Amino acid sequence: MKKKVLAIVCGRKNGETERAARVALMAAKEEGCDVELINLGDLTIKPCIGCGVCSRRLREPLNLTPCPQHDDDMEWLDEQICSSDALLFGAPMYEQSPPAAYKAMCDRFGPSHDVAFIKHIYDARVEAGIDPVYDPRYFTHRPAAFFGLGGSEWSYMGFPILGIPAICLGLKVVDREQFNWNRGILCYEDRVERMKAMGRHLAKMAQLPFEEQYYNGPDSLCPVCHNNVMLMTPGTDECTCALCGMIGKMEIKDGKAVAHFTDEAIETSHLTDTGREIHYLDLLGKGKPMPGQPKRYPTPEERKEADAWAREMMKEIPSTKPER
Ligand SMILES: Cc1cc2nc3c(=O)[nH]c(=O)nc-3n(C[C@H](O)[C@H](O)[C@H](O)COP(=O)(O)O)c2cc1C
Repeated sequence: MKKKVLAIVCGRKNGETERAARVALMAAKEEGCDVELINLGDLTIKPCIGCGVCSRRLREPLNLTPCPQHDDDMEWLDEQICSSDALLFGAPMYEQSPPAAYKAMCDRFGPSHDVAFIKHIYDARVEAGIDPVYDPRYFTHRPAAFFGLGGSEWSYMGFPILGIPAICLGLKVVDREQFNWNRGILCYEDRVERMKAMGRHLAKMAQLPFEEQYYNGPDSLCPVCHNNVMLMTPGTDECTCALCGMIGKMEIKDGKAVAHFTDEAIETSHLTDTGREIHYLDLLGKGKPMPGQPKRYPTPEERKEADAWAREMMKEIPSTKPER
């Protein structure tokens, strides 16, 4: 059966991002894949309102409350993803990172789509003999490539945000690229060739089992998510990958930056099943403390007191809003 490569992009209709994605998709098509392109601008993806319903499902897997924002195109997008074999994510840079529409999608992918969380809910429901609700195709790890483009070099936070769907959806990052100072992607042969190579690689990876899929992009510091944006801890050589959260040590060797990550650190990467499982246990308060995690959580009485204090402050300083 033909593999399907799905591109999910944002930006203008027939704009630079769509054009770049279509070059990759044409190449994937030539490799025998079915291809599809979705522009988030054509969908309604309501922003997450932080109600916590999807996080509570972890504690109450047998009693699922729907996401209050469900009456939009998110479920339709889920279906498109579930029926694809490889994904291409692309976005223009708006203020150094992908636009709000892309982040809205990432937020909605949050706890509600996290493959580790959903698997626990699914298993609990199957064990209880009730409708598992979630489509088992959610748990399929897929290969994914990411690209950003912008009119200048202001793209510093591009990939750490572009790559977020890889965490929630359990994707393998098999390629990534950033095109700065873009003045018409189709006018530069090297950039067109780069996108064709990305499309061909995605088509190839879609044929391989997940364990055999590999990264084909530019040199990177993080060996798991292939991100180069590292958070440095001042006064130390400690670095944290800004996308997958792995903590390692940065070294300048022969004038070159090298980030070292131990095998134990790699197991904590948010892009690995072990890392997702750690996060799941952390959220349930069952994990071993992570850096920065308080040693104890507030008691119910402390929370009650905090809520009463917050209400007092709200009376004193209400939020100002426009009159409607
Ligand atoms: C609101 C806004 C902010 C932008 N900020 C950046 C930026 O921070 N860095 C950059 O390189 N380009 C920036 N750009 C330029 C766009 O990334 C660029 O025009 C891109 O090609 C648009 O993609 P599209 O043709 O797919 O819509 C910005 C454009 C807009 C409209």
